[in-house]
Amino acid sequence: PVLILLGPPGAGKGTQARMLEDKFGLVQLSTGDLLRAAVAAGSDAGLAAKAVMEAGELVSDEIVINILRDRLADADAARGVILDGFPRTTVQAEALDALLAESGQKINAAVSLEVDDAAMVTRISGRYTCGGCGEGYHDEFKQPAKDGVCDKCGGTDMKRRADDNAETVGSRLVAYHAQTAPLIAYYAGKGSLQKVDAMKAIDTIAGDLSEIVQEAI
Ligand code: AP5
Ligand code: ZN
Repeated sequence: PVLILLGPPGAGKGTQARMLEDKFGLVQLSTGDLLRAAVAAGSDAGLAAKAVMEAGELVSDEIVINILRDRLADADAARGVILDGFPRTTVQAEALDALLAESGQKINAAVSLEVDDAAMVTRISGRYTCGGCGEGYHDEFKQPAKDGVCDKCGGTDMKRRADDNAETVGSRLVAYHAQTAPLIAYYAGKGSLQKVDAMKAIDTIAGDLSEIVQEAI
């Protein structure tokens, strides 16, 4: 199965994708994570993406589609994938349809995480991530049991993202509304759209999503 998580920065795509990965054995493919890895590795794609990401704008469709195509082919198709942060433009959505058609797959559900923009600034400015295993945390909403120590791997190397500051969040929200929000109508038109209230608590949303996934797979 193929599931898409749509939603603005801070909506909880990464948080929920990791939970669904653990619960259903699906593979999370986050183009944001793949691009950050490309930046860290200093590859051509990473060099081209770095400044764009720091400005809170969207990386070119060509770069993102190439990165995603490689990983989609690698991913264990039998278990299925959760796409987190892809597609983000109509061009990407059409490219995904074509890629899936080649391998005889289809989108089982495109879930829109519905949130208020104002709350996203607080979510993003309080976010940090374990450098060891990638588990996400929040200063206020999701703290590890022991301060500074990852619940999952015991690591203590907590990191904050270069684009998680108030100015960049503003640009990311603008990019979302201009370029990504039209995909809600795109998937509604195909009959695969589901909406989830993502202003609720993390665990409540996880329950709502689990029901959708159970029905979709
Ligand atoms: P990307 O990495 O995808 O970032 P994003 O879309 O801005 O999303 P975030 O990772 O910020 O948020 P999230 O929804 O995953 O929230 P999270 O679960 O962490 O993209 C980064 C950049 O890469 C883009 O700006 C662009 O430049 C480029 N890029 C990536 N994909 C691209 C593409 N396809 N095309 C072009 N460019 C692309 O949660 C946030 C925080 O809130 C966490 O601390 C969490 O603990 C907390 N939290 C989560 N849920 C709740 C809740 N329900 N209540 C309270 N707190 C919560
Ligand atoms: Zn960890």
